[in-house]
Order: sequence, then structure tokens, then C-alpha cells
Amino acid sequence: MTQRQVAMAMRPGGPEVIEVNPETMSPLTAGEVLVQVKAAGLNHIDSLVRSGTYAVQFPFPYGVAVEGAGIVTAVGPDATLSVGTRVCWTGVFGSCATYVTAPYHMLVPLPEDLSFEAGASLAHAGLTAGGLARHWPLEKGARAVVWGGAGAVGRLLVAFLAERGVDVIGIASGDRVHAVRTAGAVHAIDRCSTDVKEAVLAFTNNEKVHAVFDPVGSETFQTSLQLLAPRGCLINYGQLSGELPTIDLKQLMLAGSVFVTKYGPGGIKGAGEIREIISQALELAQKYDIQPKISGRFPLRKAADAYRFMDALPPGKVLVLPYFES
Ligand SMILES: NC(=O)c1ccc[n+]([C@@H]2O[C@H](COP(=O)([O-])OP(=O)(O)OC[C@H]3O[C@@H](n4cnc5c(N)ncnc54)[C@H](OP(=O)(O)O)[C@@H]3O)[C@@H](O)[C@H]2O)c1
Repeated sequence: MTQRQVAMAMRPGGPEVIEVNPETMSPLTAGEVLVQVKAAGLNHIDSLVRSGTYAVQFPFPYGVAVEGAGIVTAVGPDATLSVGTRVCWTGVFGSCATYVTAPYHMLVPLPEDLSFEAGASLAHAGLTAGGLARHWPLEKGARAVVWGGAGAVGRLLVAFLAERGVDVIGIASGDRVHAVRTAGAVHAIDRCSTDVKEAVLAFTNNEKVHAVFDPVGSETFQTSLQLLAPRGCLINYGQLSGELPTIDLKQLMLAGSVFVTKYGPGGIKGAGEIREIISQALELAQKYDIQPKISGRFPLRKAADAYRFMDALPPGKVLVLPYFES
């Protein structure tokens, strides 16, 4: 039986509740695959879930991190993946470990020219970006604002929308506007040196936009509503500025009978769609040369430090590399 080292959240709390311990893995059952983890990707949702106060709750203790990339080392009955296949994934708890067991249908083959680090950085963001791009009907020629357009989700979202012919106005800070343009935006706004509302109104000749994609929450909420054309939609998918805003229905009417929705992965139907979206995201990353920016690489024994580092919002992906020592 395979032994692994795994980072576990022992109880609700901050990074201090994470312990790395040995564990004997159960034998593979039908459809399961054993993967040697080469890189685990950390996500803000991990910290929210571990806090114990998020809308979605899991029983403690549990293995942290849901995203990663690695090599298939064994397959159970009916699992149609070969030993040696390079794969990436998201949605598999306990990915911050030396090995992980996953249903084969959650694993997406990693193209040859994408590294394990790229796979562990793109899978979760790609699934979110692809899901967001499908969430609200936007036709060719529609206009959309993407806050955090240079972020991990943001760049892939810009690419998904641009690929569909949507005119994307991406928002980022400072030099990061270049990454937004590279991803396919028709216009990029530096939120540090420009008034975002005025810049969007000027670019659209006061016509505003059909959708705003927002990972920030309270801080950007009022501006986002003001950017929407009548019957446009604000799609929130994160709360980087803290608690989510409360909605005043009257305000939605006054803003042009606009819609507001909170995106979650529940709208994606089944593993088939998950694999399809992640594969598309990997293709778009290659096509638009979206190189994940890695802010930090940590060995497994420093998993708690890796989360502390991510919680300080560095401008890039934080990875745990189980076979990396420092
Ligand atoms: N709902 C879901 O299924 C789902 C899935 C994945 C991620 N998420 C959420 O999506 C969000 C983004 O994730 P990510 O991995 O893309 O993060 P990320 O790479 O850190 O990108 C987010 C970007 O947003 C911008 N930003 C941060 N604070 C801001 C503020 N106060 N005002 C305006 N812009 C701000 C920053 O870029 P600039 O400084 O360049 O503007 C930042 O880099 C997180 O909240 C995460 O929890 C949700």
C-alpha cells in the first residue's frame, strides 16, 4: 500500500491549523487513479473553507488544496488512463501531498509543452474562467469589463471572452495592464492611475458594458453597477475586499434593471464539462501565451507558510512542490 505525506487542516482556523503527516492510502477502487503530485496549486478558496465560516463547509480534519499536476503511477479497475500520463486537475481534496487518489475523469492530460507548475497554476483558474464565460450569454461584439484582468482567473477569462468575439475591457494595476492586452482585451485600464468608471464610459462612448466580471466584492460593487448598460449583468466570483455587499433591489432597478449573480462551480455539469473546460483553458493559455506567474514555491513541510504567503495576496500563484527542498 502506498504511503504518502499529506498536509491536513486539523480544525477550523488559519494556516497554523495545518499539519503535514504520514498516511497509508487505501487501495484504488473502480475508476480511481494514483498520481504522484509534482506541484500543488493553492487557491483563496482553500483559506475560506479552512476558516470554517465559508458558505461551503467540510468536516475536519481534511487534506488541503484541491489543485495540482503530476504523473499517473497506478490505475484502478475501469480507469481509462495510462500509467505515466502527465495530468492536472482541480476539485481533488488532499492535493497538497506526495500522492493523491483521484477519479480518472477528474484528470486532464497535460500538453507536452506545459510544465507541471503550469498545470497546477492553470487548472483551477481555467475551470473558473471557462465556467464564468459560459455563465452569462454574451454574443460576438458584446462588451465586458473584467476586474483583476491580470490575475490568474482574469487573464484566462479575458482569453475565453476574446475568443468568442467579446470586446473585453480589462482592469489591472500598473504594468500588469500589458498582461491583460496579451490575453486578448481590446482595452486595458490601470486602476491605480485612472478613474475606472470614467475610463470605461469614455471608451464605450457612454454606452457602458453588457457584463462586469468581479472577483473583488464590496470595494468595486458600486462602480461595477454604474458600468452596466440597461439589463446588463454583474457576475461576482470572489470577495478579495472582504465581505460581500448586500443587494438593494431598488438600486438594481435604478441602475437599468440590471442583474447581479454570484458565480460558483455548481453551474458546471459533471466531470465531462470540467475536463472540456480545463482542456480549452490549457489550449488558450498556449495560444495567448499566458504564462502563469509564480510568486512562491514551498516544500510540503512548509505548507502552512505557503498559505500564509498566499493570504498576503502576492501577485501570482503559490505552489507547494512536494519533492522540493529548501
Ligand atoms: N467562485 C469560484 O468558483 C472561484 C474560483 C476560483 C477563484 N475564485 C476567486 O476569484 C478571485 C480571484 O482569484 P485569482 O486566483 O484570479 O486571484 P489573483 O491571481 O490574485 O487575481 C486577482 C486580482 O484582482 C485584483 N484585485 C485585488 N484586490 C483588488 C481590489 N481591491 N480592487 C480591484 N482589483 C483588485 C488584483 O490585480 P490588480 O492589482 O492587477 O488589479 C489581483 O491580482 C479570488 O477571490 C478567488 O477566491 C472564485
